[in-house]
Amino acid sequence: MPKWLENSVFYQVYPQSFCDSNGDGIGDIQGLISKLDYINDLGCNAIWLNPVYDSPFMDAGYDVRDYYKIAPRYGTNDDAKQLFEEVHKRGMKLLMDLVPGHTSDTNGWFTQSKQPQKNELSNRYIWTNSVWEAPPQYRLQCGITDRDGNYLVNYFSSQPALNYGFYEVTHPAWQLPVNHPDCLRTAEAIKDVMRFWLDMGCDGFRVDMADSLVKNDDEKIATAAIWAGVREMMDKDYPDCALISEWCHPIRAINKAGFHADFYLDHRGNGYSTAFRYYNYDTGKQESFFSKEGSGSIMKLVDEFVPNYEATKDNGYISFFTCNHDNPRMSAWYDELELKINFCTIFTLPGVPFLYYGDEIGMRYMSELTSKEGGFSRTGSRTPMQWSKGKNKGFSDADPDKLYLPVDTKENAPDVESQMADENSLYNTVKKIIAIRKSNPELCGNGDFEVLYAEDKKYPFIFRRGAFVAAVNPSAKDVSVAFDKAVKEYVFTIGETTVENGTITMKGQSYALMKI
Ligand code: NOJ
Repeated sequence: MPKWLENSVFYQVYPQSFCDSNGDGIGDIQGLISKLDYINDLGCNAIWLNPVYDSPFMDAGYDVRDYYKIAPRYGTNDDAKQLFEEVHKRGMKLLMDLVPGHTSDTNGWFTQSKQPQKNELSNRYIWTNSVWEAPPQYRLQCGITDRDGNYLVNYFSSQPALNYGFYEVTHPAWQLPVNHPDCLRTAEAIKDVMRFWLDMGCDGFRVDMADSLVKNDDEKIATAAIWAGVREMMDKDYPDCALISEWCHPIRAINKAGFHADFYLDHRGNGYSTAFRYYNYDTGKQESFFSKEGSGSIMKLVDEFVPNYEATKDNGYISFFTCNHDNPRMSAWYDELELKINFCTIFTLPGVPFLYYGDEIGMRYMSELTSKEGGFSRTGSRTPMQWSKGKNKGFSDADPDKLYLPVDTKENAPDVESQMADENSLYNTVKKIIAIRKSNPELCGNGDFEVLYAEDKKYPFIFRRGAFVAAVNPSAKDVSVAFDKAVKEYVFTIGETTVENGTITMKGQSYALMKI
């Protein structure tokens, strides 16, 4: 287990939109390098960088054309090497994004695989034996190559699935078992890609759709076995490097597959969703627990998270995030105070937390934008970082109409410079709570965690982290509940919280981190 994960706080960088160093309207690696001090100063000591590989960008880079080459729009492999060095100079870490389930249909492996003549990559992707064979339960692309067969896609139509085999072979004519040499070779090919970047100096990977490798593998037994093999390689050759999965099933991802951490994703109706994001389309109300409406419940999160946390805490971490490039920013439905209360909670929960770029200043979810590079509804969360009040909000020197996506020009659009200067800004709140977390081991990844008060449809939510207690009342109503601890110190508060005579009283929209 890489030790540094324990007190890491990640900052997610969407490279297109972070900082443009050469005035072409799109973010790049040199731009990111120029902002490492900013990230470090905010208190984030690790970075997850979305894909920067060569790609036709039908899915923002999750359609890799060449795993071994940085996309020219971001720079060169030398820039990547320099990035890793600059990150390490500051005592930070950086995870690249690994996309092992599929490639672009322009990837050289696919170009070779789709040839009609049998060759050594014919089985690198999943093909039926003829174009007339198209069982409807599989997402197949039909009749568009010279090769007489249809191929399975993993996500968008331009993303053919790599072939790791089928756990249950139901169509033996074309489905290979997981131990077929060609399927084993696919896993080796991905390991080669990992070694290439790890040897260059990256500190591991966030793994895209980590559960998607083996098909007809409902329990993910064979998929987990592949990752267990990868973990063996990591333990042996890169023991200080980390693997974090996009899976959202910690028991499988951490305990079975060997990931060091697993994301708690926004799956509608799950614990994360009902706590932080849930909008009820029937009632037209924001019914998440963290809304000031006060009509949510924390119980789904507690009932789901606690057993998963208990089952996996000795082996790895569950990752909460403020947002990522696939979700609307929470500013779409929360105001600044709601965001402060919510982010303070995220940064005091156990695990390895992730802050999405721009969330520290409450950047807007620009829902009005048309899709860019396969973003669709996600596009509104991918707009240029707002650094200052200057040209293009300090993101780029390019003409505004040349920008990758428009910057938010709304009046009162937040920016880093202004928020840094304002003691009470969201930026400074996030910075303070991260600093408190990192300077207290009990508040870090695996520090003790116990729920002290959580009731269905009731507020507040109170939990203990070692000798700290965090109490949070996101609702607009004042609340009081029994509380038998004596408070030694109020370490960080928003709103007003008092503890007296065995009762904790919290004004509407309050958060308190207390030492007991
Ligand atoms: C999950 C990624 O986060 C998302 O952005 C991407 O479109 C899909 N996986 C496909 O790779």
